[in-house]
Amino acid sequence: MRLLIAGWHGQVARALIEAAPSRIEIKALAAGRAALDVRDPRSIERAFGDLAPTVVVNTAAYTAVDQAETDQEAAFALNRDGARLFAHAAARRNIPIIHLSTHYVFDGTKATPYDEHDVPAPQTVYGRSKLEGERAVVEANPDHVIIRTGWVFGPAGQNFATRILDAATGEAPLRLVSDQHGNPTYAPHLASAILDIARKITANELDRPAWGTYHAAGTGATSWLGLASEILECAAKHGKAGTPLEPIASADYPAKAARPMNSELDCAKFERTFALHLPPWQQGVAACVERLASA
Ligand SMILES: NC(=O)c1ccc[n+]([C@@H]2O[C@H](COP(=O)([O-])OP(=O)(O)OC[C@H]3O[C@@H](n4cnc5c(N)ncnc54)[C@H](OP(=O)(O)O)[C@@H]3O)[C@@H](O)[C@H]2O)c1
Repeated sequence: MRLLIAGWHGQVARALIEAAPSRIEIKALAAGRAALDVRDPRSIERAFGDLAPTVVVNTAAYTAVDQAETDQEAAFALNRDGARLFAHAAARRNIPIIHLSTHYVFDGTKATPYDEHDVPAPQTVYGRSKLEGERAVVEANPDHVIIRTGWVFGPAGQNFATRILDAATGEAPLRLVSDQHGNPTYAPHLASAILDIARKITANELDRPAWGTYHAAGTGATSWLGLASEILECAAKHGKAGTPLEPIASADYPAKAARPMNSELDCAKFERTFALHLPPWQQGVAACVERLASA
């Protein structure tokens, strides 16, 4: 299988590129924005022509949630229009696409985890652009697996885990939101599941075609405060000095884009269909902190 990954430098893409060599059946073909700009049809055509993929993953996205509020055009150009162009180029060659999306398609007011039957109601430009991107992918390529995930962290790039470790100097307390909850998702765990899905959809390992939308996130839920606390507990085992944490409410953390109070995803459909299960988020934190500590 020749797996083309759009969005080379992103957290999920880097985890995919790192994990792929351990799968003998997968040859990962990653292309950064310079070689594959998903907003540019000519760039997409060139990448498909040069790299001859048999399955593609779109991790490229405009992910700056607050910035998107004032940069709507750029967010839609990438998250909706780029998603459509990339999915369509794959469809013309009968190539399946795995496309990443987000819990931000929901408004976060539900009391229980969101499943795939829940009606999306995004409250932010980012969420709307990602939802329209999902719809564009569905229209452009019938052979699609859309994966909604959330709270991604990992050893590559800047993310919540690296920011907490950088900010925890042991001096001033860190103020963390304690009334929003979600499923922290370790990028390498998600990447491993994506590689399994790519194999299963191309090697006819499934009883029936699995095209559709799925929720896939780390197992278990917590708040931003709970996630930070776990990160620092793990870091303490690697000699990092403790830092006090102070719980705050969402109202005390004003942001341009409203954050969903509930970002929890019900992953039962994904687990049933693909016989896959992402590990508990605490395992991801331990693995992440260990890697960052030994870097
Ligand atoms: N991070 C999260 O917490 C989270 C949660 C839920 C869902 N997701 C979804 O998961 C996916 C991957 O997220 P991530 O955290 O890995 O994102 P990320 O780290 O922000 O990476 C996004 C990548 O997209 C690339 N990109 C930007 N414009 C591009 C273009 N025109 N053509 C090709 N590539 C372009 C960026 O490249 P440059 O480095 O060159 O700018 C970057 O490498 C996205 O669909 C995101 O919406 C993420």
